[in-house]
Amino acid sequence: MYQKVKGTYDLLPKETNKWQALEKTIRNVSKIFNYDEIRTPIFENTELFHRSVGEDTDIVSKETYDFIDRGNRSNTLRPEGTAPVVRSYIENKLYADKIPIKKLYYMGPMFRYERPQKGRYRQFAQFGAEAFGSTSPLLDAEIISYAVTVIKALKIKDVEVHLNSIGDQESKTMYKKALVEYLKTDITSLCSDCQRRYVTNPLRILDCKIDKNSEFLINAPKPIDYLNQESKDHFEKLQQYLDAMEIKYVVDSSLVRGLDYYTHTVFEVDANLDTLGAQKTICGGGRYNNLVSSLGGPNIPGVGFAFGLERLMFALESINFKGAPDYLHLYLMILGEEQKADGIKMLNRCRIGGLFSDIDFLDKNLKAQFKLADNLNARFIAIYGANEKAKDVINIKDKETGKEITIDKHQLYNHIVAELMTPSKSCESCEEDSCDECE
Ligand code: HAM
Repeated sequence: MYQKVKGTYDLLPKETNKWQALEKTIRNVSKIFNYDEIRTPIFENTELFHRSVGEDTDIVSKETYDFIDRGNRSNTLRPEGTAPVVRSYIENKLYADKIPIKKLYYMGPMFRYERPQKGRYRQFAQFGAEAFGSTSPLLDAEIISYAVTVIKALKIKDVEVHLNSIGDQESKTMYKKALVEYLKTDITSLCSDCQRRYVTNPLRILDCKIDKNSEFLINAPKPIDYLNQESKDHFEKLQQYLDAMEIKYVVDSSLVRGLDYYTHTVFEVDANLDTLGAQKTICGGGRYNNLVSSLGGPNIPGVGFAFGLERLMFALESINFKGAPDYLHLYLMILGEEQKADGIKMLNRCRIGGLFSDIDFLDKNLKAQFKLADNLNARFIAIYGANEKAKDVINIKDKETGKEITIDKHQLYNHIVAELMTPSKSCESCEEDSCDECE
């Protein structure tokens, strides 16, 4: 018997139902913020991730799924969505569009060879957004507001936005100098990876999974203390805008994020919920003013975020999120082979008209079919047997009202549609088509 690959999972129909509801909310909020969907390939040239996410990041140095194709090219299953979106933005010249700010979102699988645990997988799904074309901190504020609105729309509580600035390139260089000076004093106390990074990319030492919580690294200089005036102004303005939007956040000077491309703003959203296990960070993002140009595009800034969708689903468990219940409008019982031709004609008519409908394929008896209709949560059960055929009628039972009637078989579709459009009793009482209380 084959088993799924370590770090992957199956989503069975009960779960996909919830995922669809989650995705629907995400798409609605994306529309509200005027972001359009982009879909890029699952794999890209390996070099794209080396040049963007960074050679010395854990993601690129330890976690990518690389393969050589039959044409001897090195490809990588995407570990994240920003680099592919930037690649596509440049390749398709989206910057030349009539609309100067390009706002894009995406949802789909990402791949990282990490140690699997609850909330951490080797194939996982992200919902991400990227906005290009402005250095204004207002766009950073919008991106954070977009992420927070998704969380609010899903009714997830107990979240905290952690915010920091690592500054522009000049500030980052000044900070790097100070960090190297500091690390020099006790670099041998850190792991061998950190000692290598000390030479190649000292900033990455700060998110080392082994030494991250060591006293020595906790006391290291902080990027926020090395911001030049422009970077300080950007960070202050962003906070003013977030305050104006009444978005709560905490400035977290130790937040650096594990990807190389960030400048200025970095942020993460943590959900303090038991249903998440140890992986509490549901969203991470930031600004990247030099990424487009470093990948061969024009000098255009960007800012974005990505949510881990599995972690969002775990957060939703805390509010007992169920998604839309599964149901059918019609379960049609065709009794006897001679009735099948007529029966499937009626079924087809109902399906073409948009009714969620199903029938039996196993020649089950009446009792078993009633049970199946129940399990399928069918609102109407229609019976078409030899007696009905003889009179050109069909028998219909409405499970919601308990009403049972026999009508002209040609009226099956019209009858169900008319009944579905009639407001239910409880709603009639409040004289609304549908209201929260009655639902
Ligand atoms: P990231 O922090 O690497 O950022 O990932 C974003 C989110 O994806 C994390 O906060 C987490 O919720 C989820 N995630 C990451 N790895 C895993 C995993 N192995 N299993 C389950 N969930 C995971 C980025 O990917 C950036 N591209 C975000 C960004 C967009 N920055 C600017 N624009």
